[in-house]
Amino acid sequence: MGSNKYDERNTVNDLTGSEWKFSTKTVINKPYPINMQHKLRSEHGGQKPPELCEDLIKIFTKRNDLVLDPFMGVGGTLLGASLCDRRAIGIDINSRWIEIYKQVTELENLQEQVTMEGDSMVKLDEIENESVDFILTDVPYWNIDTLKKTRNKKIKQSKLNDFENHTQQQTKEEWLEEMVNILKKSAEKLKEGKYMAVFIGDVYREKQYHFLSAELGLELSKVEGLTMKSNIIWVDNSKSLHVFGYPRAYVPSMMHQNILVFRKETI
Ligand SMILES: C[S@@+](CC[C@H](N)C(=O)[O-])C[C@H]1O[C@@H](n2cnc3c(N)ncnc32)[C@H](O)[C@@H]1O
Repeated sequence: MGSNKYDERNTVNDLTGSEWKFSTKTVINKPYPINMQHKLRSEHGGQKPPELCEDLIKIFTKRNDLVLDPFMGVGGTLLGASLCDRRAIGIDINSRWIEIYKQVTELENLQEQVTMEGDSMVKLDEIENESVDFILTDVPYWNIDTLKKTRNKKIKQSKLNDFENHTQQQTKEEWLEEMVNILKKSAEKLKEGKYMAVFIGDVYREKQYHFLSAELGLELSKVEGLTMKSNIIWVDNSKSLHVFGYPRAYVPSMMHQNILVFRKETI
């Protein structure tokens, strides 16, 4: 452990001992480059840096392993998989995002991964159970009707609302239920002993902090066969600071996202 050697008994990844040790850090504060057709991908508004996804994929898989993303967007996970020679399947309900992903792979000369258009709740049926080595996904934004009332009209009109393709508003409970159902079904696709990592940002709305990561983490921990193993904090250095409450109230500037890590342990 802690050596520069790869241990032949390693069943989790291709990392050396020292790389493994580094990979267990619960905070990721490395800056990621604004690259890989960032302008094109930013039409989405919720895209993740492909190199961040690559770093995570390398922690939980070996070369040629199969990665699944049931909420692929413009393909942070799929691009990350191509960068480190993993195979991947992505699903998105919005054809525009899949189209952008395909353009990016062409422009970047990267291998195009398998994509499926439609509701994951339905499309996941086309993937064989226990065939996937890792799930890396990023849940859709919770659309709350009270968002309209917030002072930040810019957010309301931004791409964040469009990219989800959910024009209807949901209560937090409805949103949580939908996320749990899709992630539970996704986990059925995982091989025994393999991992699922879920990006989720907490939100500050209506003068209140919503601990969405904790709520989703607790709900998913109730799913039989899934054990929560970590909550990694990703510091998103691209976020700008806000002064919404100044000078009368403290309002947080959300600079981080959570990455909830689960392991499939049914036996
Ligand atoms: C947070 S974004 C993912 C962004 C992605 N990580 C990236 O790098 O581009 C969530 C995506 O889930 C998709 N989505 C929402 N509900 C869905 C569903 N039921 N089935 C499949 N995709 C869905 C949205 O269209 C959106 O692109």
